[in-house]
Amino acid sequence: MLKVLGICGSPRKGATEYLLKESLKPFENREDIQVEYMFLKGKKIAPCNNCDYCRKNKKPCIIQDDMNELLEQFLTADAFVIATPVYAYGATPQIHSFFSRMRPIFHLAPTRLRDKFGVAMATGGRRNGGQEIAVASLINMMMSRGINIISNESGGYAGAYLWSKDQKEIGAAEDEYAMLQGKLLVNKLVELMLRFKRD
Ligand SMILES: Cc1cc2nc3c(=O)[nH]c(=O)nc-3n(C[C@H](O)[C@H](O)[C@H](O)COP(=O)(O)O)c2cc1C
Repeated sequence: MLKVLGICGSPRKGATEYLLKESLKPFENREDIQVEYMFLKGKKIAPCNNCDYCRKNKKPCIIQDDMNELLEQFLTADAFVIATPVYAYGATPQIHSFFSRMRPIFHLAPTRLRDKFGVAMATGGRRNGGQEIAVASLINMMMSRGINIISNESGGYAGAYLWSKDQKEIGAAEDEYAMLQGKLLVNKLVELMLRFKRD
């Protein structure tokens, strides 16, 4: 069974959640794939403050908030579809906090994520509002934790880039090209992951 985890980095239900869910929908009822979601909306995730507790003691993070539970779910997945709104030409602070808190993995089990794969998508209010930068940022965050990156199909480039016009689901649905790119991206991830698992 291949477990695919869709992670939404938006602090609200809107364009990003819509893009993520629509891209994963075709795989929700398949017997060989388990689709799960993780919504950072409403979650308490303090950013890493570099206290070095994990590094010095080789122990999980000392901060007690929602991250511990989220990390447990994260580690059970084989593949990640990570989506963020563009905030100030980058990913959201929620996503940055989330990845900064994965430092204990590096100190406790550095190879833990080496056979996992991920793809990235971003939604921006402007047509060219920094979606490519946000996708690159997500890709870099995944690579920093040892996750392998799957690009989009030829012509789709690194991920999926959506223009929401700041209109949540309605704006997202209007960007048909980006919605298609989201589906193609997840399709490629799943196809390659199934092959990887089989071999
Ligand atoms: C603090 C903040 C910063 C933003 N910065 C950008 C930006 O740099 N570029 C852009 O295109 N849109 C920007 N936006 C708009 C959101 O990226 C856009 O509305 C996005 O689709 C929201 O996703 P959501 O509906 O899933 O929350 C910003 C919105 C907020 C709240």
